[in-house]
Formats: sequence, structure tokens, C-alpha cells
Amino acid sequence: MSSSVERFDEKARRTFSRHGQTVVHRGELLRHPVYTRVLHWCVAITFVLSLLSGFAIYSPWLYRWLTPLFGGGPTTRFLHPWFGVAFTIAFFFQFLNWFAPMRWTDADKKWMRQVKTFVANREAVAPRETGFFNGGQKLYYWLIAVCAVVFLITGLLLWFDDVVARWLVAVSYVLHGLAALAMLAGFIIHIYEGTAAQPGTFQSMTNGTVTNKWAWTHHPAWYARVTGRDPREDYERECQRLAERDRVVEDQERTQDLPQASAGTPDDRVR
Ligand code: HEM
Repeated sequence: MSSSVERFDEKARRTFSRHGQTVVHRGELLRHPVYTRVLHWCVAITFVLSLLSGFAIYSPWLYRWLTPLFGGGPTTRFLHPWFGVAFTIAFFFQFLNWFAPMRWTDADKKWMRQVKTFVANREAVAPRETGFFNGGQKLYYWLIAVCAVVFLITGLLLWFDDVVARWLVAVSYVLHGLAALAMLAGFIIHIYEGTAAQPGTFQSMTNGTVTNKWAWTHHPAWYARVTGRDPREDYERECQRLAERDRVVEDQERTQDLPQASAGTPDDRVR
């Protein structure tokens, strides 16, 4: 299966790259090609629409606030399953596109064992075996895959509830809600990780690129693979370069008697 999926993805990437551009500047690496970015934002948009319309149907309290967005109660009820179908289709292609780099490895186990240090921001540099995706990202991907299957099956049973046994509808209702809660929790963590927690990550889904510094900090094994360089050496060289630059600036300021400018430690700036 994997070679036909790879062939399909390769063709899709080439087709999309003809229509959209990714400009990689000096000191940057290509992270996500146009095809991946288009798929990601289709998944994100259809997911948010499904979530909002789903909440509106689920809770009468939210009903009043959210249903006007979709043109009223009956329209929301009509649209929700279609948003869900669109989400499942978009994610299906995303699933295929990322299937290979999302395979679980020993490096992910190691990353998971140290997850607390990353969450608490005690260690900014990921273990050197961390590849294109880390263990947390892979867990999120597999959570979405499982939830998408649950959504699809239970969603169809709820959609056609007049031809389905009552108990099956009741079970589907509970499972559909649980999957939505799990996805919501993952989504909140994902937005935080993709924006505020790791500056420089968001541009990978807009421009498609990341800086070398970002790559050697968060995905050292991927950096080593695509550049052929040692991430730790480059990190330390950059630390030395910044320390040297600081020393020169301090010397200049002392001789010119200028007020000192504080810009953090060199360590902070190479991550
Ligand atoms: C709307 C706000 C969102 C933002 C700001 C966002 C941002 C990002 C970014 C920057 C990446 C690339 C991470 C990297 O290259 O390391 C990414 C990857 C990914 N996104 Fe999103 N995303 C959003 C919504 C979603 C939604 C709704 C889903 C699915 C329901 C989703 C699923 C994924 C998955 C599976 C990945 C790959 C694994 C990972 O990085 O966690 N994203 N996202």
C-alpha cells in the first residue's frame, strides 16, 4: 500500500507546487510544501466548523449564540453532518500524506519520557533523535485518526437514526461527544504548541519554512538528515558567535560610555 500512497502524494505535491510557491530564504529549510499546507488548513477549517455547529446542536445554551452563524437552528442541524463529512475527507488525505513520518519509533518513546521537561520549558532543545515530528505530534495525529473513524461511524448512525436501533443511537451519541471532547483538548494544546509555546512554528504552515535554529532546536535528527550537519555543533557554534558578538558590543559600549542594552543570554537567542 505504502508505495502507491507515496506515488499519489508525490503527484499531488508536484501538482500543488505548480499553483503555489514556497520561498526558502537563506538560513531556512522547507518544512511543509503547498499540498500539505492546503490540506492542513482544509482540515482545520472543516474541523472548526464541525465543532462549532456540533456544540450549537448539543447544548441549548450555546444554541442561541452559535446557530445564527450558520443561518439558524435547522440549517445548523442540516450543515453539521456535511461539515463532518468534509472534515473526514480532508483528514483522510492528510492522514495519507503524513502516514510515513508519523510512524512511532524509539525516539518518540524517549521524547515521551522527557515530555514534562518540554511542557515546563525546562529543556528547550529536543533529544537529538527527534525527527520530522516528535512523539507529542504523532500522538495528536493518531488521536485525530481514531476520532475521525469514531466520528464517521457514530455520525452516520446518528444521521440515519430512524433506521437504527435506539440503543445504538444512544451509544453513538455518547461516543460522538467523547470523541469531540478529546479532539477539543488536543486542539487547544495543538494551537498553543503551534504558536506561543514554540515561536517560529506557525510560519511552517503559512510560508512553509522554518529557520535552521528552529529545526536544530525542536527536530535535530530531521535537521541532520536534510542539511547533513551536526545540530549540536551548529547550536554551540551559534552560541559562541552570539557570545562573541555580545562581548564586542559590551566593549564598544564601555569605551563609548553608552548605556548597556540587555537582549537576554546568547542561549535564549539560538533556540
Ligand atoms: C486553527 C488553528 C491551528 C493552528 C494555528 C495550527 C498550526 C499548526 C502548525 C504550525 C503545524 C506544523 C507543526 C510542525 O511543523 O512541527 C501544524 C501541524 C499539524 N496540525 Fe495544525 N493548526 C491548527 C489547527 C489544526 C486542526 C483543527 C487540526 C486537526 C483537527 C490540526 C492538525 C494538525 C496535525 C495532525 C499536525 C501535524 C502534527 C503536529 O504538528 O501536531 N491542526 N498545525
